[in-house]
Amino acid sequence: MRELKILAIVIFFTLVTYWGVEPYAHSQMHKHVESDNFEYKDLKEVEKGDVAKGKDLVMSNCTACHAIKVANMPAPMDPVTSGSSYGVNPPDLSNMGAILDPKYLAAFIADPATASNVAHKFTPESGRSHPMPGYNWMPKEDIAAMVAYLQSIAPKEITPKEVYVSACGRCHAARYDGKVLGQKWTQIGQKPRFKYEKDSLAFDIKLLEYEDSLKKYMGKLPPDLSIIIRARDEHFLKTFIENPQTQLPGTAMPRVGLSEEGFEKVMQHLEDIGDPSKPTRDSLGVYFLIYMVIFTIFAVLWKKSVWRKLH
Ligand code: HEC
Ligand code: HEC
Repeated sequence: MRELKILAIVIFFTLVTYWGVEPYAHSQMHKHVESDNFEYKDLKEVEKGDVAKGKDLVMSNCTACHAIKVANMPAPMDPVTSGSSYGVNPPDLSNMGAILDPKYLAAFIADPATASNVAHKFTPESGRSHPMPGYNWMPKEDIAAMVAYLQSIAPKEITPKEVYVSACGRCHAARYDGKVLGQKWTQIGQKPRFKYEKDSLAFDIKLLEYEDSLKKYMGKLPPDLSIIIRARDEHFLKTFIENPQTQLPGTAMPRVGLSEEGFEKVMQHLEDIGDPSKPTRDSLGVYFLIYMVIFTIFAVLWKKSVWRKLH
């Protein structure tokens, strides 16, 4: 009788913990954030802009800081010098029209800090301002024209890695992103495999210098994203990239404004580098199934033959 009572108490508390406390703790520690599927409902639609006018405006306003390789505009400075001037290397604008949402692109050009949800870092009291000037003094048609131009020059085919480089690569390294040992993605570009150790060290010194500037700008060094795909689930990454403030209020990481397609390519790249054996594993799955089928057939035949002998 006493044992039964103890058992009842244990069961009671187990159930309370399971149904009452665990989901509560879970919802407190991992709050649920809904995704807006990259619709950016807080931003205004952009009118169709004049591409030729946009080209003139971009060439005269943006190329002092940004490279545009597809339009033969080289970077005005090397990444390390850019980093020490702006805190971060302004990205090449070649792909932006294809991977960023047009509403976001227009809002970002008009007011970078507000569009990317980091205005809290650049308050008048902080004495700091966003390194990219806002263009909200321009008429809306002019901003729409620049968006139209950037959309017109963007290549039709963009690889997952290129999306990563354009949208994340200036802040996040990826040390397993290289086919050969010694290669990796760094915030100042792909580190090649150097023949001489001294060249490798010279590269690392430049990288450290860039990372120092980035640390000052962001408050901390953005994490390496090589294996983030194993540390965070897809829902977290989706809602975080869509709007970092929802998951980490006050964070220095900007909303980068990816379109849904841009986001899918970034995820593809994070999978490629974080789980490089996935394609092999997936194809092995098929072979394993074939093996199981053959094995089952043999097992059945063998069982039949054993029983035949017994009868
Ligand atoms: C004084 C230098 C400077 C000028 C001029 C400038 N930018 Fe930038 N831009 C930056 C910097 C720095 C960043 C990176 C900011 C960051 O990552 O926090 C940036 C980022 C961007 C991004 C990436 C936004 C994102 O969400 O990833 C786009 C797009 C962009 N700029 C477009 C433009 C356009 C278009 C113009 C001209 C109308 C322009 N920029 C002029 C410095 C500049
Ligand atoms: C202007 C710099 C900047 C850019 C661009 C940027 N990030 Fe970040 N990111 C940060 C910083 C800073 C942190 C650290 C945030 C913190 O701890 O508050 C961060 C953190 C993260 C984290 C870790 C979140 C966590 O807690 O696990 C992920 C994942 C991430 N970024 C993904 C991305 C992806 C993907 C892109 C491109 C689509 C990107 N970031 C673009 C600066 C940036």
